[in-house]
Order: sequence, then structure tokens, then C-alpha cells
Amino acid sequence: MKTKPDVNLLKNFISEHDFSQTESIVVQAMKTLLEKSGAGSNFTGWVNLPSELLGSKTLLEKIKNTQQRIGKMQPDTIVVIGIGGSYLGTKAIYEALSPAFPDNSKPQLIFAGHQLDSGYHQQLIAFLRNRNPVVVAISKSGTTTEPAIAFRMVRALMEEKYGNEAAQRIVAVTDASKGALRSLCENKGYDSFVIPDDIGGRFSVLSPVGLLPIALCGFSIDQLLEGAAEAEKELTQNFTIKTNAAMLYAAARNILLEKGKSIELLATFHPQLATLSEWWKQLFGESEGKNGKGLFPASLVFSTDLHSLGQYVQDGSRILFETFISVEKPSSDIEIPTLHNDDDGLLYLEGKLMSFVNQKACEATQLAHVDGNVPVLTLNIPYIDEYSIGELLYFFEFSCALSAYSLGVNPFDQPGVEAYKQNMYRLLGKPGF
Ligand code: PA5
Repeated sequence: MKTKPDVNLLKNFISEHDFSQTESIVVQAMKTLLEKSGAGSNFTGWVNLPSELLGSKTLLEKIKNTQQRIGKMQPDTIVVIGIGGSYLGTKAIYEALSPAFPDNSKPQLIFAGHQLDSGYHQQLIAFLRNRNPVVVAISKSGTTTEPAIAFRMVRALMEEKYGNEAAQRIVAVTDASKGALRSLCENKGYDSFVIPDDIGGRFSVLSPVGLLPIALCGFSIDQLLEGAAEAEKELTQNFTIKTNAAMLYAAARNILLEKGKSIELLATFHPQLATLSEWWKQLFGESEGKNGKGLFPASLVFSTDLHSLGQYVQDGSRILFETFISVEKPSSDIEIPTLHNDDDGLLYLEGKLMSFVNQKACEATQLAHVDGNVPVLTLNIPYIDEYSIGELLYFFEFSCALSAYSLGVNPFDQPGVEAYKQNMYRLLGKPGF
């Protein structure tokens, strides 16, 4: 596995003794996960998913056939309709791999149904009128209100724009037999993909939920799965903190929680990973935040946030620790221009690479935060590409399951999400509420 955790800066906060005391708890969590003996064990289908998909190829071929069929329409826009685990992973991968400025050689991925803002959805429909869009509607339950409303709006537009041909431009990813989205597929003849019963929303990024839209945008889902499969192999076969990066990370999180830290900040100096942090927040927040327990997952993008929340991290309540995602080799680089003068005070940096300055800013920040009593651990990834992102996604899924089981909660349910839904249905006058 190319993702390497570095715990050197944790030395002042976690002793070898702390790690060895916690190891047996994490080993037990690992057994619980792999032997499917814990709470929510019927939602562990994601554990061997990467190797299974690469082994059987059936799903990958179906995705590639759909990609070819849709490619002939030369879409300029792929609209992904979904919320939570049905959209965050796709957005995380897309933004990590896409250039910072528009690249017209690939379809643009846009999202709907992840919130209920009227302006956004009104503008979306107006925008799509002048585009050549294809729609991917994703909902495991097939009944979630936010994406269902957005899909109704987008569907109406597609039918107005393309008539009977609209059905060819809509693909659904949903349950095999249940839910309104499945019924729509049958009634309207949409091409569809199944989210397996044993994979919950926030663990579904490496199923058709993430693979289909990412393939439609022209990225390599084979490489994504190869990276994830490498992580699967390593993390499911090693049973010590020293040999298993996910066990080490899960142990560190639980020790720091035990020592009074209540917030984990996922920090990066690479803004293209900002949405990966959003995905991570959902994964850990929804998996661990129950029964009055769990670290609160938050995220920071540096240097940007050094000039806002940086003050709090350095000097505010000491309830924080930081996990950095550090990238060894940037996807591209640029030199600071050599102008042979010091009129801007930057003579000492001319000719230096921007990545070098970013790296030094990262090291400086980590040292400052450790001095400020913030425990820091780092996850080093070699590069931002499909392979590394696949590996990192799987690493976080596996760590999350171990961490939640170590904490004593079911990683795979989300009973708290129901509370607002019941109130909303009642306030909206939904029959039966
Ligand atoms: O992790 C989860 O299960 C949730 O966040 C879901 O992904 C989210 O609620 C969306 O549900 P659905 O895909 O059924 O529309």
C-alpha cells in the first residue's frame, strides 16, 4: 500500500504503552468486522468489493458499455442527483482528479438533490436547457426526499427537451427491487445499476454509486479499484498496529478521544482534496456519532484556513487533533519567477518550486500546531491519481469500521438521520405523518 501513516509527531501525546494497551481492542474490532460478528454485519459487503469487482468484471463491463452508449451522445454535462453517500464520494473523486480550471475535453459533472435551495435548482434547470446533459439518479432507498424532488424537476426538463429520447439519457443507481426510483426505471425503461443490499450509502463509493459517474467523466475506474484492492489486501491480512495502517489510525483516534480530544481536523495543503474531506466527514460522523459518543470530524484547507481558523487551532480550546493528508509529488508544478531583484522581498525564493514552498508551509504548520499542544498525524500519499485515491478511500472506510467498533458503536446505521425527516414530513403534510 502506498498510503503511509506517519505518527512521529504524536510522540508527545501517545506513548508506546498507550498504543500497546489499545491494540487488543482494535484487533478485536478487526475480527468483529472480518468475521461479520458485530452490529450491522449485514452491511459489510464493501470489505471485499474491490477484489470482487476486479475478479468478476461483470459490473465493470456493464459500466463500460453504458459509458460507450452515452459517449455517442457526446454529453457536455453529467448531472448526478443524490445526497449523502449517494453523491459525496463521486464529488470527492471528481474534484481530486479534475484540473482547477475548466477542461472542455471531458463532460462537466454537476450535482443536484443534495440540498433544497430553490435558487440553485431554478438555475440548474435554466442551465441544463442550453446543455447536452445526461442524468445519473442515485438513491439506495429510492425514496429520499431531496434527490426525489430534484429528479422530478430534471426529469420534467429532460422530457420537455428530448421527448421519448429522454429515457436514453437517464441512468439510475438504486436498490434491486425496492423504492420509487426502481419503479420509475421499470415504468420508464431507464438503464439501471444495483446498489448491493449489503453496502450502505457512505460505504458505497466503490460500487456503481461512484464508479458509474466517474467512468462517464472519463477517469479510470480500473485504476481506482486497483488502488482500493491493494489496500483491501493489505488491511484485511495484517493484524498488528505496526503492520496495518488502518489499525494504527483507528487506535490513535480512540486514544486521543480517551485523552480528552473531541474534534479531529482533517487538514490538507491541496485544495483539490477539500471534498474528499467532506466525504470523510460523512463517513466518520455518521458512523461514529451515536449513543453520545464519537469524535466530531471537521476539516481545513491550508494555507487558506491558516488565515482564518488557524488562530483557533494554534491557540483556542485544546480539544483538537489534526490528521494531515500530505501528497509527495504534485500533479504539476511551477517555478517562482527569477527577476533578479528584491522589490517584493522574494529574492530568496526565486527559482524555487511552488511545491517546495507548499511543503515547507506544511512542515512549519505541523511543528507550530504540535508546539500549541495539538497532536498531529500524517497520511502520506504519493500522488493524486485514480490509484492513490482508490487506496485512500478504502483505507478510510476500513479505518472507520475499526474505529467505530473499537468505540463500541454500530458503524453501519444512522438512526439519528430520521429525526429531521419525521418532522419535515409532518410539516410538509405528507400523508400518514
Ligand atoms: O450513509 C448513508 O446511508 C446515508 O448518508 C445515505 O447515503 C443518504 O441518506 C442517502 O440515502 P439514499 O441513497 O437512500 O437516497
